[in-house]
Amino acid sequence: MYKIVKKERLASGIYLMDIEAPRVARAALPGQFVIVRIHEKGERIPLTICDYSAEQGIVTIVTQVVGASSKMICAKNEGDSLLDFVGPLGQPSEFVNETSEKLREKKILFIAGGLGTAPVYPQVKWLYEKGISVDVIIGAKNKDLLILQNEMKAVSKNIYIATDDGSLGFKGLVTGLFDKLVKEGKTYDEVIAVGPMIMMKFVAAATKPYGIKTTVSLNTLMVDGTGMCGACRVSVGGKIRFTCVDGPEFDGHQVDFDEALRRQSMYREIEKEADCKCLVDKNIHNATSGDEKNAAI
Ligand code: NAD
Ligand code: FES
Repeated sequence: MYKIVKKERLASGIYLMDIEAPRVARAALPGQFVIVRIHEKGERIPLTICDYSAEQGIVTIVTQVVGASSKMICAKNEGDSLLDFVGPLGQPSEFVNETSEKLREKKILFIAGGLGTAPVYPQVKWLYEKGISVDVIIGAKNKDLLILQNEMKAVSKNIYIATDDGSLGFKGLVTGLFDKLVKEGKTYDEVIAVGPMIMMKFVAAATKPYGIKTTVSLNTLMVDGTGMCGACRVSVGGKIRFTCVDGPEFDGHQVDFDEALRRQSMYREIEKEADCKCLVDKNIHNATSGDEKNAAI
C-alpha cells in the first residue's frame, strides 16, 4: 500500500497528493509517469509525475476530477492509501541525456496549458538544479485555474502568464503569448509543450514557421499505460508509436494531431457512463462535491 502523506486542493477540482513511494522516487526522471490502482477491482490510471524527492521517498501527483477513477482518487485523504503505485514508466524527457554544457547553449521555452503545468514543473526544476535557466508560459482559462505558479517561480525567473479571460497576465491563448514574445524579439531553439491536445496541435503549428524544434507530451491518450490495450497508438512521422512505451514525448511537428484528437474522443462516452455509475456512490460524490461540476472534460 502507498500512503498519501499530503493532500492539497490547487484549484477547483484539482488536487495535489504526496505519495510515500521510495523506490519510485529514487528512480524517477522528468517526463515519466506512474500507474495508480485504488482498489482490487479498480482500473489502472496513468498519471504524470509532478515532483519527486529521493531523500524523502515521496512522489507528487496532480489529479483533476474528470471521471469515475479520478473522482475516486480525489476523494482519498491524507493518511489513506493507494493499492498500487507502479513506476516510473515511459521514456524520460529527451534533454536528460544531454550534457549541461549543451543545454546551457540552448534557449528553451516550456508552454504549460492548464493541468499540463504539473508535468512541466519537474522538467523545469531538473534543468534549474543543473544551472540551466528556461522561459515558461503558463496558460489557464482564468486566474483561479492557474496551478503551481509559486513553485514554478522558484525554479524559473522568466514566467509568462496567459489567461483566456485576461484575469491575469496576457489576455488570450498560450499561442497568442508565444507570438507576442517572438514579435518582441525573443528567440528559442526548442519549445516543450504540455497541455490539452488541441493546444499542443496549435503550438506545433505556431513554432513550425520559425523552425523551432517542438516536443509535445501525449499523456492524455493513455488508458491503461501498459503497452497492451492499444489505446495510445499514434502516428508520428508516418510510423505507429505507442505513447506509453515509446513516449509520452514526441516531435510535435511529426505527430498526426487530427488522428490523436479522434482517438481521444473515442473514450469520452465510456468515461461518462462510468462517471454516472460512480456518482451513485454518495461518499465519493460528497467528497468532491461541487468540483466535478467545474472540471473540464
Ligand atoms: P484548458 O482547456 O484550460 O487549456 C489550457 C490552456 O491551453 C488555455 O488556457 C489556452 O492557453 C491553451 N489552449 C487551449 N486551447 C487552445 C487552442 N485551441 N489553441 C491554443 N492554445 C489553446 O486546459 P485544462 O482544462 O487544464 O486541460 C485539461 C486537459 O489537459 C485534459 O484534456 C487533460 O487530459 C490534458 N492534460 C494533458 C497533459 C499532457 O501531458 N499532455 C497532462 C495533464 C493534462
Ligand atoms: Fe494502453 Fe498504451 S495506454 S497501450
